This record gives sequence, structure tokens and C-alpha cells, in this order.
Amino acid sequence: MISDSPLVLAATRQPVPHTPVWFMRQAGRSLPEYRALREGTAMLEACRTPDLVTEITLQPVRRHKADAAIFFSDIVVPLAAVGVDLDIVPGTGPVVPAPFRTRADLDRLPDLTADAIPDITESVRRLVGELGPTPLIGFAGAPFTLASYLVEGGPSKTHEQTKALMHGDPQLWNDLCERLAQISGAFLRVQVEAGAGAVQLFDSWVGALSRADYTAYVQKHSATALAAVADLGVPRIHFGVGTGELFELMGAAGAEVVGVDYRVSLTDAVARLGDGYAVQGNLDPALLGAPWDVLEARVRAIVDEGRDAPGHIFNLGHGVPPHADPDVLTRIVEVVHEHSAR
Ligand code: CP3
Repeated sequence: MISDSPLVLAATRQPVPHTPVWFMRQAGRSLPEYRALREGTAMLEACRTPDLVTEITLQPVRRHKADAAIFFSDIVVPLAAVGVDLDIVPGTGPVVPAPFRTRADLDRLPDLTADAIPDITESVRRLVGELGPTPLIGFAGAPFTLASYLVEGGPSKTHEQTKALMHGDPQLWNDLCERLAQISGAFLRVQVEAGAGAVQLFDSWVGALSRADYTAYVQKHSATALAAVADLGVPRIHFGVGTGELFELMGAAGAEVVGVDYRVSLTDAVARLGDGYAVQGNLDPALLGAPWDVLEARVRAIVDEGRDAPGHIFNLGHGVPPHADPDVLTRIVEVVHEHSAR
């Protein structure tokens, strides 16, 4: 049963046979079998092809024996599904040729309904059948992070246009995020209804905001997206990069698990969160390239720290870098399992 899996047990702060481990971006470019399969198929097209989605999602679970699969897709897939003109450019990321800037642009963001993404339902159903007791994590991008791609027109380090809209026209910002929360929530719901055993809401870039701005302009929209699956009983993981100042606000948005990147220790994260949350993290992905003995010591230390947390899911602080050695990931899974065995 998925509800007895180490991932779900840890997420719901119950005793586990061992610390569960999976990696953000485990399905992707660090795997030669992924690169071979993706040859000649554009990213967005791959995400809408159930044969490819199923195989790519399973590859890292088979290879590393991870405790969960992450659905192979992208945060911009639901935006493309409602008709937004965009592309995922290799080496760059999502690019929106006509960025969102005015009220008229809201017309380009209709609601997402399940009938627009039958392939997602099919891929999830097939995966759940193949994965057996291993949970599939469904995911979506959070309104702020999606808004950043739409408003900037592509990846941004400073999110200047996004913040300009947020502060310059709060009403339009609010209306945009309401639409995005519906799209994001519907994308999560389709995955859970098809059998995903947990979800993760990626607010990757929200660490760019102050607590005051997060509270005023973002939190309620992420809460709407997370609430879309609240009645379905699956654990919800809420993740962002550099969000140490926002942890308890992100938890309060409606998550069972809060993602912790490597900037804050698990112990400090638990203290900041207060009671009632499990934590996920927090190995610095850059350490994947460190000498094995250094890396192994760090992995063990994180497992030890996680034992004092109410519930701990081992992960990286952010995604697997494309040049990471996949064998190192396999060895990390072995060490986490062995060192945490109860
Ligand atoms: O293993 C997994 O995590 C599987 C699925 C997954 C992808 N994207 C596949 C992907 C997930 C969960 C995402 C989420 C995603 N996409 C996020 C949130 C996670 C995070 O990193 O914070 C963000 C910000 C995006 C937007 C995006 N899409 C970026 C920044 C990129 C990388 C661009 C590049 O080429 O460097 C993408 C493309 C993308 N999404 C790839 C993959 C495997 C690479 C595409 C390829 O193989 O050519």
C-alpha cells in the first residue's frame, strides 16, 4: 500500500523502516538512458507522450532504487495546455515570446480542465500500475514561480518585471495569480485523481521575496493551489530555493512537508517551522562532485540530523545538476537506507 510506503510515512510523521530518499530532477539529463530516449524529441512534446513519460519517470527508480518517482513533466506544461505560447529551450528553460504585462493578457489564461490533459491522466495511471508500492509524486509550479516565467518572458535572476507588476498593479497581479492557482491546482488534482501518492508544489524562485511581500502577494494563491488536493488525502510538499525566511509561511499555506535547501540546517528548519511539519532535504547538489568520503560523511550527518525531525525525507537542496555522476546518486540511496535502517 502506498500509505505504508516510507515516503508517505515520513511525510505524515509516522515511524519509518528507513529514511526515504528521492532526488529533484532525478528523471533527466544526468542519465544516459534519458538522453538516448529524448534524442530527436522536444521537451514539451516528450512531456505529452505517455510512452516517453512513463519510461523516463521509471528510469531513475529502477537505477537508483529511490523511494519515490517524480512525474516527468515540467511546471510550464499546464500553461501550454491552456494555450499559452511558450517553449522550453535547452540550456535556458521556459521562454514565453509574448510576456504577460497587461489586463488584456488575462484572456490568454483560461481555466485548466482535465479534458485538456488526458495524456497526463493516462501517463499517471500507467505509472502507478508499474510502480506498485513505490509512490509517484505529482507536481505543479506555484503561482509566483509560474508568474515569473510569464511576466519576465523567461528565466530571471532578479524578477524585476514580476516585482514591478506585483507592486505597481496589485489588482492585476492578484487576478493573474488567481488564474495560475486554478491552473496549478487543477494540474495537481488530475495527477492525484489518477493515482499519484503525494504532490510537490515547486515555488522555486519565491526565495526572492521578503516575508511581507510573500504574505501580502503570494501565500493565499499557493494556498489555493494546495487546497485543490486537500480532500484527496495525499501529503503535500512545498518547496522553494533560498526560502529559509519563509518556511513557516509556506507550511501555513497548506503543506505537510516543507522543502529545505542547503542554506539552512534541518535542525534550524524544524525550529523555524514549529510543530506539525515534516521536512525534505537538504544536501547541497554541488557536493555531488566532492570526494566520496566527504560526500558520504555529509549524507550520514544529514540522516542523523533528520532523525531528530518529526519526519524527514532525504533529498538534495535543489535539482540534480545535468553533469552529476548517476553512480554517485545510487550510492547515496544505499548509504541513506543503510545508515537510517531502524
Ligand atoms: O526529475 C524530475 O524532477 C522530473 C521532472 C521535472 C522537470 N522539470 C523536467 C525537466 C520537474 C519536477 C521540473 C520542474 C521545473 N521546471 C522547475 C521546478 C524545479 C526546480 O528546478 O526548481 C522549474 C523552475 C522548471 C523550469 C525549467 N524547465 C528549467 C529551469 C529547465 C532547465 C533548462 C535547461 O535546459 O537548463 C527546464 C527544462 C527541463 N525540465 C528539463 C527537464 C528534464 C531539461 C530538458 C532537457 O532534457 O532538454
